[in-house]
Amino acid sequence: MTITFNEQTREFHLQTKNSSYIFNILENDQLGHLYYGKKIRHKSSFEHLLIKGNRPNTPYLQEGDMTFTLEQTKQEYPAYGTTDFREPAFQILQENGSRITNFQYQGNKIYHGKPKLEGLPATYAEANDKVETVEITLYDHVIDTELILLYSVFEEHDAITRSVRFLNKGNQKLNLTRVMSANVDLFDAEYEMMQLSGAWARERHVKTRKLQTGVQNISSTRGASSGHQNPFLALKRPETTEFQGEVYGFSFVYSGNFLAQVEVDYLDVARVSMGIHPFDFNWLLESGESFQAPEVVMVYSNQGLNGMSQSYHQLYQSRLARGKWRDQPRPILTNNWEGTYFHFNEDKILEMAKQSKDLGVELFVLDDGWFGKRDDDTTSLGDWFVDYSKLPNGITGLAEKVTALGMDFGLWFEPEMVSKISKLYEKHPDWIIHVPDRSQSHGRNQYILDFSRKEVVDAIYEMMATILRDAPISYVKWDMNRYMTEIGSASLAADRQQEVPHRYILGVYDLYERLTTEFPDILFESCASGGCRFDPGILYYAPQGWTSDDTDAVERLKIQYGTSFVYPISSMGAHVSAVPNHQVGRITSMETRANVAYFGAFGYELDVTEMSEGDKETMKEQISFFKEHRELFQFGTFYRIHSPFSGNGNRTSWMVVSEDKERAVVGDYHILCEPNASYKRLLLKGLDPNASYKIEGYEGSYNGDELMEIGIQLDHERFRGHRGDHYVPRDFYSRLFVLTRC
Ligand code: DGJ
Repeated sequence: MTITFNEQTREFHLQTKNSSYIFNILENDQLGHLYYGKKIRHKSSFEHLLIKGNRPNTPYLQEGDMTFTLEQTKQEYPAYGTTDFREPAFQILQENGSRITNFQYQGNKIYHGKPKLEGLPATYAEANDKVETVEITLYDHVIDTELILLYSVFEEHDAITRSVRFLNKGNQKLNLTRVMSANVDLFDAEYEMMQLSGAWARERHVKTRKLQTGVQNISSTRGASSGHQNPFLALKRPETTEFQGEVYGFSFVYSGNFLAQVEVDYLDVARVSMGIHPFDFNWLLESGESFQAPEVVMVYSNQGLNGMSQSYHQLYQSRLARGKWRDQPRPILTNNWEGTYFHFNEDKILEMAKQSKDLGVELFVLDDGWFGKRDDDTTSLGDWFVDYSKLPNGITGLAEKVTALGMDFGLWFEPEMVSKISKLYEKHPDWIIHVPDRSQSHGRNQYILDFSRKEVVDAIYEMMATILRDAPISYVKWDMNRYMTEIGSASLAADRQQEVPHRYILGVYDLYERLTTEFPDILFESCASGGCRFDPGILYYAPQGWTSDDTDAVERLKIQYGTSFVYPISSMGAHVSAVPNHQVGRITSMETRANVAYFGAFGYELDVTEMSEGDKETMKEQISFFKEHRELFQFGTFYRIHSPFSGNGNRTSWMVVSEDKERAVVGDYHILCEPNASYKRLLLKGLDPNASYKIEGYEGSYNGDELMEIGIQLDHERFRGHRGDHYVPRDFYSRLFVLTRC
């Protein structure tokens, strides 16, 4: 039993392997929160945790009573307006102008497994999983509306998921002006808030701040989860490190506008809330309609940040990502984007594919520029038919030739966009997101198709499916390269215009769902100007995503390190590209570029035909090395060891260990060479302390406990260079240690 409900004390106790989550039905029949943290033994009541009492300057709920106020009560799904002044979980505007509600407990249902969330991505349970769900129905009799709170407990993953649904059973029209998916009122505020922030080419950098009284939040109002803020936050104790201490993770399974917030009140209660951003949001809920909010995944760990991340990795890899590719090693690919940009023809692509194949590459991906008349980024999005002047045998002809080489073929699309110079726009100018009588801003010369309209999604689906049905395509890169402005839909009534961003995302999910259903064998990789929509929502459909347009190995250390706080290694597209690097102009060695990219869905992003023979030889060796260790890299347990965000940022290290602890690979990276450097040790993690390991290229054997407690002495002559490569002082130096139990 992971969920217990005690009828007498009216308390719910949710237990994962290492955490407890306890809440109850309050005396006014709303839900109060009692505890979230390290697992504790069950007992019939924890009611003493509810602190009641008289404080000056406080409003109380009931006449004649000076003890019960929501202001001082920790709650599960709080409302504003009835003695709680903090930001609420929801708000409903009613026909008479009232925003006051009173959702009271009606009943609950506990069952094995987990239901689907209509039209939305979410974690799921398989038949024999230890997953239980409790559905709690609250009811407001004045507006005849139900509020259903859903909690699912993934016992083994230390995760609890939450979402809410409103059902309007009454006769009046309701406006949902705020619907957060989860609210947790934590006991105290002695936490640091960690977030993954950045922008294009520097996505998901780790930022940390101490909680202060008042509101602190991160959000997106860009129509996509964005590269600026990721829909995730963690609260860690100040003393928590990568390896020990308490941390709570909150991750939102959604790809659109979001708000992730912590409000610290005068009692030092930290209210965490997460959901669709209420700014510029309004959902009209007519009689008989329901609204399902997306899911929040909460993870508690007292094993430090790595403990939290490992829970997310395992859960998202195995019970969020779906389909044939979920558990399969990902193909090593060559993508032509940085190699040719828009300028290629069939001969060029075939030559690149052939030479890639000869070096061991398994999949060739043709990126942007194959359709319409697209020789630059000003035209053709929306015209998903081949440009015969570049590819005289069409996509089918090219794909057949590439597959005849003995490799797979993949293709780029940007389904959500249209260029004004296109046949699609000529025919349907009102299919873009826009507002009448107002000018239309563009991003990269393109406009966003109104995916809140089914006919638009249908049309794009048909165009894409026609190509995918016809040609042997086994991979699709789904790009999205601009944010939303002048938000409006020609097909929605005035009182539904603020629904557009959410309806749009539902349309994106619908297209993904239809394509992944019709083409279950295709591996989808998401992309949004690199990693600008890299979130759990998309991961449900596309098990890997292009982590960033920034392919520089040094920049990637930060990006991949930050991304790994939530997302599994198998989900991070990581490619070796040419130097000088196209984003930052930096020159790093092939070895360092690969040593970073191995920790991801590995590939190359360059023109292989332009490479020197020496570099080709290196590429061949890298590919065969990666093939040998691919499963370990992509599905092993990942540990962050040294953070590029700590100290002077000169050092990063991380490692993966196989489930049986038989094998491990450690990546160690030094950015700038330090003359006469201080001693450094690399303390490994996750090994079997009682086992002995050999390190490839080095003599002798090393015990697991020794490697974890004493570590590898990095300045030691014996550990300089890797596999015959002698150490020469240099910047951007990296090495791998490959360990095998002996
Ligand atoms: C942005 C992506 O991140 C790149 O990898 C590439 O696909 C371009 N778009 C193509 O326009």
